[in-house]
Amino acid sequence: MADEFNRRDFLKAAAIAAGPAVVSGRAANEKINIGWIGVGTRGYASLDWMHTAAPNDVEITAICDTYEGYIARAKDRMKTVWGTTPKVYKDYNDLLADKSIDAVFIMTPEHLHHNMAIAAIKAGKHIYTEKPLAHTIEEGFDIVHAAEKTDKVIQVGTQNRSSTIYKKAKEMIQQGMIGDVHYARAFWYRNSLPDNPAWRYVIPPEANTQNTDWNRFLGPAPKRSWSPERYFQWRLYWDYSGGISTDLLVHQTDIINFMLNRTVPKSCVASGGIYRWHDDRDTPDTFSAIYEYPDNFHINYSCYFGNDHYGYGEQICGNEGTIEVMNRKDMYFTPETFGGKAPANVAARKPVHLNGKEDFNEGDGAINHFRNFLQSIKGNEKPIAPPLVGQQAAISGHMATLSFKNQKKIIWDEAANKYHFV
Ligand SMILES: NC(=O)c1ccc[n+]([C@@H]2O[C@H](COP(=O)([O-])OP(=O)(O)OC[C@H]3O[C@@H](n4cnc5c(N)ncnc54)[C@H](O)[C@@H]3O)[C@@H](O)[C@H]2O)c1
Repeated sequence: MADEFNRRDFLKAAAIAAGPAVVSGRAANEKINIGWIGVGTRGYASLDWMHTAAPNDVEITAICDTYEGYIARAKDRMKTVWGTTPKVYKDYNDLLADKSIDAVFIMTPEHLHHNMAIAAIKAGKHIYTEKPLAHTIEEGFDIVHAAEKTDKVIQVGTQNRSSTIYKKAKEMIQQGMIGDVHYARAFWYRNSLPDNPAWRYVIPPEANTQNTDWNRFLGPAPKRSWSPERYFQWRLYWDYSGGISTDLLVHQTDIINFMLNRTVPKSCVASGGIYRWHDDRDTPDTFSAIYEYPDNFHINYSCYFGNDHYGYGEQICGNEGTIEVMNRKDMYFTPETFGGKAPANVAARKPVHLNGKEDFNEGDGAINHFRNFLQSIKGNEKPIAPPLVGQQAAISGHMATLSFKNQKKIIWDEAANKYHFV
């Protein structure tokens, strides 16, 4: 089968079905009322993506945020793009108490995901929650277990799973185009000028303790006095983020899991540090992680915030060929040549290049991911990134952070769902 595959077959082949759907009690034409928790960078951009994804299926009836400036900006955008004015909340518990809201989007910093997701499950909402599933492995399992007791749909924001380019890569790998796979490389490289340090996002000059809610931002994190840096640049501090591991790496281990039908690694060794951006940040700007998975599979991961020549990518290096997805846009299949001595079946395979925009008219992966979430609520599909899948991706991220912080190799015991160091 692999040998008969070519680019045209690919474009014709139907996308991989998401699996059987759950039965929904909703009327087909009923709009889904959404409450949006967190309208910062991701939440704000998503208001537009949702309009592209499903302009007629949903209504964003409420937004919640703890910074008034972002609430005002989101209300403005809602008026422009949707032509509506949502209700506004500062406390997500008040939004969750609104019975007319069917589903919530949680797009707040990592350390808040757990409490918000658990409260939303208790309130009986469908939930789309951003990655990483939670700030610790234990919190993630708490969500997974709570999710088992609800009949509502929960989707984790690892949106690459909804991109056709990755579904095609998975299809090719599963069809044997690159032979046996024991090795993958993944990387995310970024750079910026010295006056624009990595992750030092702009702090709105007017932000202060009156127009933000510092205690609600802190949530379960250790109490400390007001810090606009921590509020707006939370990725730089361990109290709120796992840094590169849970912000960037989880997307890549997740999509490798997806393409190769993998779940969790059995060990990880991580190393790195703050090499480029010497400010008061906690989280590294230079980071590598080596993973071993069961059955002889290895991931070599690297990230650096001081050179972006090689960009972003996942490279699945099979014994008979390579599938790589670059910058989430371009998928390349390249057969191995074995120095001109390739077996006939391998030599017959032709290189393939697919581009997300040109071949599938797809932009940001979040758009399809939102659609899958909404179709799941309607009972037509199943979520492609349910909590367990989100947790599996997050575990690899947390393992890398833990290995780095403890300067030790970390082992995952899959039977016990626990880690230890060696
Ligand atoms: N899937 C992706 O590709 C992707 C990309 C970027 C970010 N993200 C994720 O999205 C989430 C948000 O990231 P971001 O970059 O938008 O961060 P951000 O700091 O820009 O936005 C966070 C928002 O949450 C608000 N907030 C803080 N505490 C709150 C509380 N208690 N209640 C309500 N609102 C509160 C803040 O005021 C802010 O508006 C993170 O989990 C991040 O990992 C995912």
